[in-house]
Amino acid sequence: MALKNSSTTAMKSEASHDVVIRRWTLDDIPDVQQIALTTWRATYGSFIPDEDILAFFRTYYTMEALAENCTNILRAGFLAVDAGKPVGYARTFFNDQEARFYLNSLYVLPECQGKRIGTLLLRECETVGRAFGAEEIWLGVMKQNTRTVLWYEKLGFRFEREEPFIMGNTTVDHLIGFRKLNQPLP
Ligand SMILES: CC(C)(COP(=O)(O)OP(=O)(O)OC[C@H]1O[C@@H](n2cnc3c(N)ncnc32)[C@H](O)[C@@H]1OP(=O)(O)O)[C@@H](O)C(=O)NCCC(=O)NCCS
Repeated sequence: MALKNSSTTAMKSEASHDVVIRRWTLDDIPDVQQIALTTWRATYGSFIPDEDILAFFRTYYTMEALAENCTNILRAGFLAVDAGKPVGYARTFFNDQEARFYLNSLYVLPECQGKRIGTLLLRECETVGRAFGAEEIWLGVMKQNTRTVLWYEKLGFRFEREEPFIMGNTTVDHLIGFRKLNQPLP
């Protein structure tokens, strides 16, 4: 099923230039891959060996896998473009069997973090969730990624359980939690 990729939002970031959040297209996938690998290494490199990060990337971040976010009506992919440069992305999935909306990924390049780009990406994702009629947005975050766990909590996420998450040959604790979609983001 084809999904219309017409959603584009332009906002002023605190860096005083325009940040555009838009659906990613097939042509954007190499940029999404680059942002993913760079940001994963910066975020997880202190507790996950590079070979495991690469193994995960090669398995789950193929062109075909990321194209699903352009073609599957249940999936969405957003790209953040700051002054013409792709700097972040987010992916969502509405599981229609369990009627649950998931944020699969949210990543902003290290040098672009702290400029509200992550919040803007999350806002666009939540709009998709509401359109599916979801009341919550669910996600998993590595327990050792403490800065981001605090970031989510500040935005109203509550973590209710832990599950193992496997990246290559490494297993880490994943916190599973949600935020109510009827609460506005700050
Ligand atoms: C988590 C993340 C998506 C947040 O996006 P962001 O654009 O950096 O965050 P925002 O600018 O919207 O929010 C900034 C606030 O978060 C805090 N913050 C949390 N993590 C931060 C980080 N790594 N860099 C800068 N600020 C961060 C800031 O202190 C700031 O708080 P303030 O508003 O009180 O000043 C982004 O930092 C990121 O990609 N981190 C690494 C990857 C990651 O953990 N992704 C999620 C995996 S589940």
